[in-house]
Amino acid sequence: MASAQIHIIPQPVEVKPASGSFTLLPGTVIGYPAAQGDVKKVADYLSALLSAPTGYALPVRPGSAARSAGNIYLELQASSEPALGKEGYRLQSGPNGVLIQANEVAGLFYGVQTFRQLLPAQIESRQLVKDVRWTAPAVSVMDHPRFGWRGLMLDVSRHFFTKEEVKRYIDDMVKFKYNVLHFHLTDDQGWRLEIKSLPKLTEVGAWNVKKVGRFNYFSKPELNEPRDYGGFYTHEDIRELVQYAKDRHVEILPEIDVPGHSLAAIASYPELTSTPGTYQVNSGEKFMEWPPSGHFYGLIDNALNPASEKVYTFLDKVFTEVAQLFPFAYIHMGGDETARNFWEKSADIKALMAREKLKNLDEVQAYFVGRVNQIINAKGKKMIGWDEILQGGLVPGAAVMSWRGMEGGITAAKKGHEVVMSPTTHVYIDYMQGDASMEPPVYASLRMKKAYSFEPLPEGVDPKFIKGGQANLWTEQVYNLRQAQYMTWPRGLAVAEAVWSPASARNWTDFVRRVEHQFPRFDHAQTKIAPSMYEPDVKAFKSGTNGLAIEMIPEIDGLDLHYSFDNSYPDAFYPKYGSKVEVPKDADNLRVATYRNGKQVGRFMTIPITELRRRAGYK
Ligand code: ACM
Repeated sequence: MASAQIHIIPQPVEVKPASGSFTLLPGTVIGYPAAQGDVKKVADYLSALLSAPTGYALPVRPGSAARSAGNIYLELQASSEPALGKEGYRLQSGPNGVLIQANEVAGLFYGVQTFRQLLPAQIESRQLVKDVRWTAPAVSVMDHPRFGWRGLMLDVSRHFFTKEEVKRYIDDMVKFKYNVLHFHLTDDQGWRLEIKSLPKLTEVGAWNVKKVGRFNYFSKPELNEPRDYGGFYTHEDIRELVQYAKDRHVEILPEIDVPGHSLAAIASYPELTSTPGTYQVNSGEKFMEWPPSGHFYGLIDNALNPASEKVYTFLDKVFTEVAQLFPFAYIHMGGDETARNFWEKSADIKALMAREKLKNLDEVQAYFVGRVNQIINAKGKKMIGWDEILQGGLVPGAAVMSWRGMEGGITAAKKGHEVVMSPTTHVYIDYMQGDASMEPPVYASLRMKKAYSFEPLPEGVDPKFIKGGQANLWTEQVYNLRQAQYMTWPRGLAVAEAVWSPASARNWTDFVRRVEHQFPRFDHAQTKIAPSMYEPDVKAFKSGTNGLAIEMIPEIDGLDLHYSFDNSYPDAFYPKYGSKVEVPKDADNLRVATYRNGKQVGRFMTIPITELRRRAGYK
């Protein structure tokens, strides 16, 4: 059945399978109307995409001659179709060819992404793949996004990613119709953007000591250790990236995270903090306390001094260059997690409070945010910040990115601020995506299934203030691009569907089917993915005669979990998990293998019994 061959992510608004198929041949032409020169870029993009794996040099030709049997034709519709908006499209494929139509070029680009998913998985390869019949099922698709802001955040401060790696990340995100790359450019561990008027930011601030292991637990660098790990983007690099993104209908949102998370800036210009001293860029050694009470505090001062005019002069210089480099209408100023324990002791800040009649540090922070908003507005940009910027009252016109749950976003929208929903609970893709035994340690978990239930639009909120949603990849524990990909995919598919597809189209079982069709596509693209959905969460309890029992909770249906306690690796002939199992008294390890239809899926899991005892609450 044709529909069984169709597994598009994000799920389009309307998919009507038809009979027959389209076949891409060496002579297939990619055509566009001669009068629509803007369309050529998308046609060229498609030609390049298809040519590498097929080995066909598919010609791109203006003129309606190509709107004939067997060809691919892209066109802007003569009269605009309101339902499609700026990014929607119609696509028809069949024996007579492929036709993609839209109101605007962005829509054609998304039609191309959908078309790509109709072709065999090998189409994602960047090298020639022989002996493939390049057919696409006949189908008619009508599609448009639910939200205009479909973001992924990449933290390039904690670990630096090169310009080429960022391009690679963009290549993957656009396949699933993401259109905002939030670039977290500065933090305690590195300042990644050249600011010509403040050269030390990258001479000093972009470099730390290379450490490998578990971030935040690293040994303290020696004073004379070489600081040669890191990097930054020059203005030229940024122009290149912005253009690369623009060609793929992605806006880059620059974030300069202030007043907290600013140690790299402070190491470069120590006069920016309210605590005199010398500072170094953090290399992953502990420098903040995060007590369970939630009242975190800095062991060293990583916050800018809101009472110093030097800070506003500094920020004016920074945002002048940021505004020139990034064409997006918004600049993100961070605003999150400012440790205030050094602010509390500052005579400067006490004087500021008296002068400006600020009652508490929330109001001091709000004063700072207001000043930053003025600077950003003066550069012709809108300010957006993490939801802490609501504390102490937020200036009108500022937009809010809600991360500590949805509440900040709801409050902000009710006050008339634009909001991007990005809650830790559903879209923090730096969290572990499977059982902790299988993942680099992070303090929290987020299964894809939970991410798939992300609903950016809360009830009772005026939809016009909810611009969309965004998944965030913080990179403390992400040391390279392969791991960045692994953390992003497939969870990024779940979030893509939450921000693009109609809410009524959400269906976990069907989504899992479609995700599995994406896996070989990622393989051909050489993008690393996480197979975590095949691996259960293992819970442990104080129970039974030996005082320890386990429960295994699969993420998806239809899996057989086989296990052992005798240190051997289980296969499909080992005991199959049904419900709660008692752990034998002398066992060392639990090992688990997941099977489906007699074939192993996912990885072997090994969990030491000492770890299970810890999970059960034994000290
Ligand atoms: C954040 O996760 N600190 C915004």
